Amino acid sequence: PLVQETKRIVAQFDYTGTDVNNGVKEFLRQMNEGLQKDGTSMSQIPTYVTGVPNGTEKGLYLAVDLGGTNFRVCSIHLNGDTTFNLTYSKVAIPKELMVAKTAQELFAFLAKQIEQFLKTHHEDHFEAHIRRRNTISTPDGFRDEHIFRLGFTFSFPVQQFGINKGTLIRWTKGFDIPDAVGKDVCALLQQEIDLLHLPVKVAALVNDTVGTLMARSYTSPGKTSTLLGAIFGTGTNGAYVEKVVNIQKSVDGEYDKSTGDMVINTEWGSFDNQLNVLPNTSYDIELDKKSVNPGIQMFEKRVSGMFLGEIVRLVLVDMVKNPNIALFKDDNSSTNDWRSTTNIGSGSSLHKQWGLDSSLMSIAVADNTPEHSTLRMQLEKELQVDSASFEDTQAFKEISYAVGRRAARLAAVALGATVLQSGKLSEASDEPIDIGVDGSLVEHYPFFRDMIYEALAAIDGIGPAGAQRIRIGIAKDGSGVGAALIALVAAGMEKKGP
Ligand code: BG6
Ligand code: GLC
Repeated sequence: PLVQETKRIVAQFDYTGTDVNNGVKEFLRQMNEGLQKDGTSMSQIPTYVTGVPNGTEKGLYLAVDLGGTNFRVCSIHLNGDTTFNLTYSKVAIPKELMVAKTAQELFAFLAKQIEQFLKTHHEDHFEAHIRRRNTISTPDGFRDEHIFRLGFTFSFPVQQFGINKGTLIRWTKGFDIPDAVGKDVCALLQQEIDLLHLPVKVAALVNDTVGTLMARSYTSPGKTSTLLGAIFGTGTNGAYVEKVVNIQKSVDGEYDKSTGDMVINTEWGSFDNQLNVLPNTSYDIELDKKSVNPGIQMFEKRVSGMFLGEIVRLVLVDMVKNPNIALFKDDNSSTNDWRSTTNIGSGSSLHKQWGLDSSLMSIAVADNTPEHSTLRMQLEKELQVDSASFEDTQAFKEISYAVGRRAARLAAVALGATVLQSGKLSEASDEPIDIGVDGSLVEHYPFFRDMIYEALAAIDGIGPAGAQRIRIGIAKDGSGVGAALIALVAAGMEKKGP
């Protein structure tokens, strides 16, 4: 029955070509709805970034990045020849800060990390600034060459009011600090930076997807400009270049109108919160019900790294609890309680919410050894599963593959719809349509990009020929470089004055 049960469950994660096409139609509808008005499930946020770089940009900038697995501080030297040098440090965000009482606690921590980074890597800058501060009285508007312009990559939905202004709409990915919602996150960070007297000005607010788009465009092969930046990591989201004429809702504030384009942060993690077309197994329902934000980020909960492991965990728990399915069974046990008839240690994180990291799925899918020895070792180490049989590991592999494959095909819905929205496939050109991607899932889950391509080829209006024109490339550490590029644009705007 284990083999049949696994088959039955795996089938629930099928996402057929027809599903993909229905998904694309609805995605396009919701994208355009979000361009018309506020308050839609896909926010379609105007970013005030009106062009993508071409690789000739130069200068030294600071960037910080909050919202992925780690908090990162980096300084980036853009060399102006499509290359850059990056110095960075990273720390994991302490779990308690993700749900802190006040926003100030989180932002004070971030400012402290910036201080440490500057002291370690840019002491000279720091001292020059202090010397100048002590010898020159600073009139308003005085520009200190030693003040770093900082691009703040803040990877949550933010209503932007300008290149360095924006209020938090809602938290995602397990963060929950109600005090911060509605506040300007750049001002919150600047306040804490000023308290520490750091020579840093928060010059640009950047979503990680926008950073990824900019970075990919800066470095992209053949100087092709990039259409879309996407993250498939802890969360998922995309930002793309839209024609300003298509943005019918109002865009207040200053921006450069000369290009006719503006980058839109789609916040596609919340695509189809109303579940018009998204697949919805009992496992998806349970995951959502027990999350900190039920009913929200419904696309993300089926696609991104933070959630896929939890879906697999819920499937496994369901199977283990069923006495008729011999998954992780301990043949020597004589009791009837499912907890003690298995090979799973009593302290196993398999029994805890979020207890199965999606990296274990990647290990499972990648393990093609005859005995699944890598996977078996990892099951023992991470989930306290002793002496798993070949049938057990095979079931684990198949479930991980099915959940990952559904995610990749859903990812193709988002990418394919954005390509169709751009109209680029109907332009008479054989230039590649360039997409930059980043995030732990697309980087480490085996064949994620191949599975995306396979689904793209099945989309009406794209087909195999269209899929071949689409070039999906990793933009590693994209958002640091991207944030620097946007800080550069912002510094240019400062010089011109309002
Ligand atoms: C990093 C980017 O490489 O990837 C971050 O610099 C981004 O900005 C992150 O948020 C996403 O990946 P993950 O897996 O850390 O969420
Ligand atoms: C979540 C955030 C979004 C971010 C994405 C990837 O969906 O809401 O802003 O871009 O995760 O990190």
